[in-house]
Amino acid sequence: MTQAAAEPLLEVSGLVKHFPLTRGILFKKQIGAVKAVDGVDFHLDRGETLGIVGESGCGKSTVAKMLVNLEKPTEGAIKYKGEDITRLSGKALKAVRRNIQMVFQDPYTSLNPRMTVGDIIGEPYDIHPEVAPKGDRRRRVQELLDVVGLNPEYINRYPHQFSGGQRQRIGIARGLALRPEIIVADEPVSALDVSVQAQVINLLDRLQAEFELSYVFIAHDLSIVRHISDRVGVMYLGRIVETGKDVEIYDHPTHPYTQALLSAVPLPDPEAREHRERIILHGDVPSPANVPSGCRFRTRCWKAQERCTLEVPLLAVPAEFRLVEGPAAHDSACHFAEEKRVVPPEGPAEPPRTPADGMP
Ligand SMILES: Nc1ncnc2c1ncn2[C@@H]1O[C@H](COP(=O)(O)OP(=O)(O)OP(=O)(O)O)[C@@H](O)[C@H]1O
Ligand code: SF4
Ligand SMILES: [Mg+2]
Repeated sequence: MTQAAAEPLLEVSGLVKHFPLTRGILFKKQIGAVKAVDGVDFHLDRGETLGIVGESGCGKSTVAKMLVNLEKPTEGAIKYKGEDITRLSGKALKAVRRNIQMVFQDPYTSLNPRMTVGDIIGEPYDIHPEVAPKGDRRRRVQELLDVVGLNPEYINRYPHQFSGGQRQRIGIARGLALRPEIIVADEPVSALDVSVQAQVINLLDRLQAEFELSYVFIAHDLSIVRHISDRVGVMYLGRIVETGKDVEIYDHPTHPYTQALLSAVPLPDPEAREHRERIILHGDVPSPANVPSGCRFRTRCWKAQERCTLEVPLLAVPAEFRLVEGPAAHDSACHFAEEKRVVPPEGPAEPPRTPADGMP
């Protein structure tokens, strides 16, 4: 995690992905839309990690897929070094895609069981042979295995011969194969045991410094994101509702949804756990096909008032914090934003550190 540069490496504005809801078999008629992503803005500076957090179904993976061009946005721009990549095609798009790679959530299903590890890691070279000439691929793949802490001699093994943590290392090696600048990691440790999670996070941390990577790191657990992120964006029902530096979000949250999420993070200290206020959210997350008017969090917010039904709160520094400098003055999409510390100053539990990020 290093210093931010002047121009963002990635700048996302007004990003929208609506999946049409249709009826009829022969003559399909659109009867609505699943608003999976509904107006998302953020930037990623060179060398930093942006954590994106939110409950299941809030649109995190859809954002990730749009960043790596696995889904086309309905609207909005994704600027990479100032150029809108949603408008590119052909060679120009291929060149950009090389620089933005993805690591997937589930190391059990994301690796083809019929391919050897060598073929899986080296597959991106089929699309970009200029990065590794045919005769040099084996050596490159072995180098990558070594970099992610796996024995280079495992090159001819199959995914089922590896543990979950090792498989995620294979997924990371594949993500690194084209030497990208940005890695979008979609819940890369959610499917792993806690002790293995720490090892994989440590590995990502080390690789970030070694390969000068910038990360978009997606998770639904705020405690995992804190460990690795410089900044955090909290998503709810297709939008970012609060964003700021890690200390601003964890120690000075102003949005009720962030406060509720924080009140559920695991705390290692039993006394802190006992004195921590739990904020229980009532009701289910509304369907993204039927987003509430005004503030989309209002159906579960304990502070909701009439204004929340009528007016959409914008993601900006709330008026009451604009004139004061300090950690509460960060973007929060709430009409009644208030600072509230939910976790004790030492912060939520960090995943247990291991002496090295050796093989799980
Ligand atoms: N191809 C699709 N067609 C229709 N709806 C979709 C499609 N992909 C995703 N959705 C819907 O969009 C919403 C957001 O999904 P997404 O996978 O982005 O959420 P997520 O935050 O990654 O959730 P999770 O934490 O469970 O991975 C969900 O309601 C999902 O059902
Ligand atoms: S705008 Fe209203 S409903 Fe939305 S988070 Fe703020 S207080 Fe709650
Ligand atoms: Mg997801």
